[in-house]
Amino acid sequence: MKTTSFLLSTAICLASLASSLDPITVKGNAFYQGNDRFYIRGVDYQPGGSSKAIDPLADADNCKRDVPYFKDLGLNTIRVYTVDNSANHDECMQELSDAGIYLLLDVNTPKNSINRADPAPSYNADYLQAVFATIDAFKGYDNVLGFFAGNEVINSVNTTGPAPYVKAVVRDMKSYISAQSKRAIPVGYSAADIAQNRWQQMEYFNCGDDSERIDLFGMNDYSWCGPASSFQISGYQANVQNYGNYSLPLFFSEYGCNTVQPRTFPEISAIYNTEMTSVYSGGLVYEYSSEGNDYGLVNITGSNVTTLSDYDALKSQLAKYPDPTGAGGASTTNSAASCPPFQSGLWEVDPSSSLPALPSGAETYIKNGAGKPLGLSGPSTQFGSSSDDDNGSSSASASATASSGAASSGGSSTASAKATHTSKGAAGHVEVPHFLTTTVLGAGAYITVFFAIGLAL
Ligand SMILES: *[C@@H]1O[C@H](CO)[C@@H](O)[C@H](O)[C@H]1NC(C)=O
Ligand SMILES: *[C@@H]1O[C@H](CO)[C@@H](O)[C@H](O)[C@H]1NC(C)=O
Ligand SMILES: *[C@@H]1O[C@H](CO)[C@@H](O)[C@H](O)[C@H]1NC(C)=O
Ligand SMILES: *[C@@H]1O[C@H](CO)[C@@H](O)[C@H](O)[C@H]1NC(C)=O
Ligand SMILES: *[C@@H]1O[C@H](CO)[C@@H](O)[C@H](O)[C@H]1NC(C)=O
Repeated sequence: MKTTSFLLSTAICLASLASSLDPITVKGNAFYQGNDRFYIRGVDYQPGGSSKAIDPLADADNCKRDVPYFKDLGLNTIRVYTVDNSANHDECMQELSDAGIYLLLDVNTPKNSINRADPAPSYNADYLQAVFATIDAFKGYDNVLGFFAGNEVINSVNTTGPAPYVKAVVRDMKSYISAQSKRAIPVGYSAADIAQNRWQQMEYFNCGDDSERIDLFGMNDYSWCGPASSFQISGYQANVQNYGNYSLPLFFSEYGCNTVQPRTFPEISAIYNTEMTSVYSGGLVYEYSSEGNDYGLVNITGSNVTTLSDYDALKSQLAKYPDPTGAGGASTTNSAASCPPFQSGLWEVDPSSSLPALPSGAETYIKNGAGKPLGLSGPSTQFGSSSDDDNGSSSASASATASSGAASSGGSSTASAKATHTSKGAAGHVEVPHFLTTTVLGAGAYITVFFAIGLAL
């Protein structure tokens, strides 16, 4: 038996090495594939929607069904919001690799994430074990472009409190990768479409010691709506100017406003043009599959895929606007930003305070590895860690609290809230209230309004 399993694991190991892509590297404010600048041409991919928390990369049939469409669209990257760290991903990752496609992966799940409403208890050793086990599940694949430590945890001007916890997660992920991974896989953050404090977020996650700075910054941005908008009207031009000194790769981790239907993706003419490429490195369209919220490129029914008009539009726009040649204006310096000042009602983080300390109990994971992955059916860590001696029963009471939905007014959703014009938000979240974001455009600026629309499902 021993021999068999050895041979089996050798075979699996060889299989996963069978073909590989050059890992993407970060230099200055840009991505590189070998010596060539790399621009993300991507879609966000979570068929079934995030509320169901189904790992799309654990099902080889799904990948066989969808990867040919990614290829047909001309993509080189997908983003996935939720995976099961106990599942096997070899086949899907190989399918993607064979198609020349990289993965940006969010490490959080509905049960394992920083709780926006009450971050301190959610930052615990059990939570980090889940995050680290997800890194373990993917660190061996050359086509992992990077990990997102968080998505839209800060989703308004007055939810900046969790920022130090998210940054602590960045720090811990970097420590873990440095101790437990052969490759230095980039770690980033994906920010909500909040114009008011986006710059503060960019600077905050990029300030301080290298060991706690992110390596890439994704912005979810729905500001270019239809053909009547433009480089200027959308605010893209102002962003290029305002973010021109940003020292890390910047890209749209979600884009594709849907208030004008059908979508024709005129913004692609700017995104891959030198008017933007000195500051931006492409982006990912929200989202591949239709989840009943008017963002889909395709309808999926079982094993059948039906392409929609958005699909054809995206494909034709991506084909029409190739990457610029050469470096596209990228800069090569990557110096730390200064931490943004405390501003009441806008950015309520003291720039001189240090990050929350690594929870005791998590040190062993960094040193010895995360151990057994608990998958999507493992315990919720959002309200405390079951391994905290002082809070031994917190996990059980946490689940009770979670199902009643009483204690929490928000969590870090695994996919973004952006339910403009829909009856159902994209932000699936099993255990916490939904947030519904409405983006109202006006004179080049936008305001984001939040509604908490109910409690647990
Ligand atoms: C956030 O700020 C808005 C606008 O000032 C206010 O209406 C809202 O109550 C605040 N929310 C929280 C959770 O403080
Ligand atoms: C960018 O850096 C230059 C030189 O340091 C400085 O003059 C300029 O104000 C900066 N721009 C922004 C938007 O920070
Ligand atoms: C895609 O699915 C939506 C929702 O089920 C449906 O209304 C629409 O007709 C479908 N489109 C195609 C082309 O199948
Ligand atoms: C998929 O398409 C085939 C061929 O058109 C059809 O026979 C089958 O019923 C479809 N399956 C589903 C689940 O819609
Ligand atoms: C236990 O939980 C309480 C309340 O959430 C918290 O204040 C305390 O720091 C926790 N103790 C430990 C050891 O985590």
